[in-house]
Amino acid sequence: MRFRHKLLILLLIAAVAGLTSPRATASTEPVHAQHGIVVSVHELASRAGVEMMQAGGNAVDAAVATGFALAVVHPQAGNLGGGGFMLVRMADGKTRFLDYREKAPAAATRNMYLDAQGSVIEGASEIGYKAIAVPGSVAGMVYAEQKYGKLTLKQVLAPAIGLAREGYSLNWEEARDFHDKYLAEFAESRRIFQRGGKYYQPGEIFRQPDLARTLERIAAKPDDFYHGSLARELAATMQKGGGLITADDLAHYEVKEREPIRGTYRGYEIISAPPPSSGGTVLIEALNILEGYDLAKMEDRSAQSIHYTTEAFRRAFFDRAEFMGDPDFSKIPVAQLIDKRYGTAWRNSIDGDHASASKELKRPAIFSELEQYAATHPGPEANRESPHTTHYSVVDAEGNAVAVTTTINDWWGSRVTAEGLGFLMNDEMDDFSSKPGVPNADGLIQGAANAIGPGKRPLSSMTPTIVVRDGKAFLVLGSPGSSKIITTVANVLMGVVDYGMNIQEAVNAPRFHNQWLPDVLNVERWFSPDTVQALRKMGYHVQFGLREGSDAGSYWSDAECIAIDAKSGERLGASDGRNNGKAVGY
Ligand code: GLY
Repeated sequence: MRFRHKLLILLLIAAVAGLTSPRATASTEPVHAQHGIVVSVHELASRAGVEMMQAGGNAVDAAVATGFALAVVHPQAGNLGGGGFMLVRMADGKTRFLDYREKAPAAATRNMYLDAQGSVIEGASEIGYKAIAVPGSVAGMVYAEQKYGKLTLKQVLAPAIGLAREGYSLNWEEARDFHDKYLAEFAESRRIFQRGGKYYQPGEIFRQPDLARTLERIAAKPDDFYHGSLARELAATMQKGGGLITADDLAHYEVKEREPIRGTYRGYEIISAPPPSSGGTVLIEALNILEGYDLAKMEDRSAQSIHYTTEAFRRAFFDRAEFMGDPDFSKIPVAQLIDKRYGTAWRNSIDGDHASASKELKRPAIFSELEQYAATHPGPEANRESPHTTHYSVVDAEGNAVAVTTTINDWWGSRVTAEGLGFLMNDEMDDFSSKPGVPNADGLIQGAANAIGPGKRPLSSMTPTIVVRDGKAFLVLGSPGSSKIITTVANVLMGVVDYGMNIQEAVNAPRFHNQWLPDVLNVERWFSPDTVQALRKMGYHVQFGLREGSDAGSYWSDAECIAIDAKSGERLGASDGRNNGKAVGY
């Protein structure tokens, strides 16, 4: 995630080209919309979604239009060449969870990123053709549109096609991002994003005719991407570059509808991402632990409330490391992990005055399934997960809500652009565990369930989440940020539910993060040194910001969220001032 520090002043102007309330709002006020709203990392993508709703479409039409538009205006993370998760809750209460996560190609092997000595080959799962997993984004968005949208694929693709063909003006951050040194290693990426070395300047128009043609082909014949000429062309460019993906891999890609994870927190219903994401399980496990504390009484971001919350994160991430992976390949004991009794047992292990030591955590022995599983599987493996993803939230006039988190993994993915097709390919193979027991750049630990295997989906942290109150959608939440996605969603959710913030205040509020190992409490730069001092006295290793690999910075994540006011019905959009996102409503 590239953090847009210049936006720390957080002046959000609500009157977005007349589409939202004309009232200019201060930094702590969300954008108010009377009918529908889209919040994403790019104004043009949010606007594409709103146009669909104004044309009679529903929240799914808007989400698909926003997703395709992000592939054009946010190629760093929005994508055709990656994957994602879409959580839909219709106003009648029906929920759908679409898993269009990438899959390992058939030729993938468990040790494919190890050298002859068994050491991880640095960068092999991140940069270049061998890092690429079979993309699912096009399948997922087409599936969503055809099954749950009201408009045609041609209609929802029109804004993206227009943006690719006519171009859009690059801002300073975007023009700077295009300088990525690894992009320059791939001729097609260098040609398109770096104009062969004559770099784009801020304010210049960036046009993508190859991508426009690909989008037009998808609109005309969506099946072609996986079963027709587009599939053959994509497979040929992958093979030419030394990648593993074949036309057969593409033909075998399938979107999966899964049951979302469900829990409750202080009377609110939480609906979130199931495996192969760890997001919903870890979120609900942590909230179950926290439910027994009166956090509101301890007050927002007091040392005591941070202590309890961190201890809950620590325990939920400890379990993530042991158990999480692709549910089609391993049994994931989700029911036990999100059981309230298990949360209570974990809570009983927390000392109110002192930080736990991560390495000394002992799982409560209340479910034999967990003990058996832990005893019969190899120990957790280290893994690095990229924070470069993007999230968008949608609510329409009927109250249908959609939360989508989508990724090509690293910023610019594998840096490979599919030749002649104009879109970047993911490096999602990096979300598998390459080798047991070796700490990685971000120190994130994962279990054997996430070893590489043909046809398998790598473990994710993406956490598109919808919170329901009195039978109606209340919050639509999500963020990029790898493991920090989960703690960011928790921070925002608790900001509203526990501390009574409005959604914009909750998004703005300084974040804190712990993921079991490394045994560090990360806090954003905005934290009070006095609070940090109190936490250090409790035994915490507090670090301001992040200092690991590409994941270094003073602030993190990009929460693009919505709340619905129960009384007025207004849709309240909160884009994250840490980036250049925008809530657009009408
Ligand atoms: N690649 C980031 C995630 O799936 O969590």
